[in-house]
Amino acid sequence: MDIFKLDGKVALVTGGNSGIGLAYAKGLVKAGARVAIWGRNSEKNTAAVESLQALGGDTAAFVCDITEQAQVDDAFAATVSHFDQVDICFANAGGGGPRGMLHQISDADWQGVLDLNLNSVVYTYRKVIAHLLERKAPGKLIVTSSVAGLMGMGYASGYATTKAAVLGLTRALAVELGRNNIQVNAILPGYVETEMSIKTPPVFKEAVLRRSVTGQFGTLEQMEGIAVFLASSASDFMTGQNIVLDGGHTVHPM
Ligand SMILES: NC(=O)c1ccc[n+]([C@@H]2O[C@H](COP(=O)([O-])OP(=O)(O)OC[C@H]3O[C@@H](n4cnc5c(N)ncnc54)[C@H](OP(=O)(O)O)[C@@H]3O)[C@@H](O)[C@H]2O)c1
Repeated sequence: MDIFKLDGKVALVTGGNSGIGLAYAKGLVKAGARVAIWGRNSEKNTAAVESLQALGGDTAAFVCDITEQAQVDDAFAATVSHFDQVDICFANAGGGGPRGMLHQISDADWQGVLDLNLNSVVYTYRKVIAHLLERKAPGKLIVTSSVAGLMGMGYASGYATTKAAVLGLTRALAVELGRNNIQVNAILPGYVETEMSIKTPPVFKEAVLRRSVTGQFGTLEQMEGIAVFLASSASDFMTGQNIVLDGGHTVHPM
């Protein structure tokens, strides 16, 4: 259907070299977008570009640590220089942060998770917003939050805090950018097996399955469609929203 087509659009996916970000990128390529991916590891970047090109995608990767505004500035300039424009941004890269009780978490670890999951989104969005407004172009900003941003997550307070904070940012930006035809939304996945989530203790995964109404974890393929929907004109009347994709994890099972 044409409303899901992304021909002529350029999408940026931070953390697009693995896991959920790479799944988004695959969906976007299949819908016709040109896709830039950012990650720190150049080998992972190269492998991801090859897998996206195998799908017929015009893609390129840029090395960037999103916790540093200067690196984000450079990567954004390189992305625009390569593709001429950015229309869609998935602020997806992130990580679990420190585990343990809050009073045992060091200042450095707390600052680290704020930088990785919250400040990085600000650094990236700033660049994309200025670029879209300068071009007077419509746009789509999408952040990967988590069901932890709604439910909380014991012994991972930094993760829960940052994933909730980006929901507030999403709603604020939806207001600020609504008249500019820029939609801002958040995807809240439940548990999907990736490099990040595989490190969570087995007891956590058992609890997720017990609570899930479908009795299943999410798959990476199930992340592709929501990316296309939120990047395309099919979602033009949706902004400031939390899109939960969790197999019913947040529905109380009785
Ligand atoms: N998997 C789940 O169950 C789940 C559920 C809810 C939400 N999420 C969220 O989904 C997002 C993606 O996670 P994932 O599960 O797909 O994990 P993943 O496979 O480990 O992917 C993380 C991505 O982020 C990049 N990254 C990490 N730190 C970075 C940094 N400082 N600068 C630039 N890129 C960085 C990684 O690339 P490099 O290592 O090359 O930098 C990688 O591409 C995260 O925001 C996560 O919180 C995941």
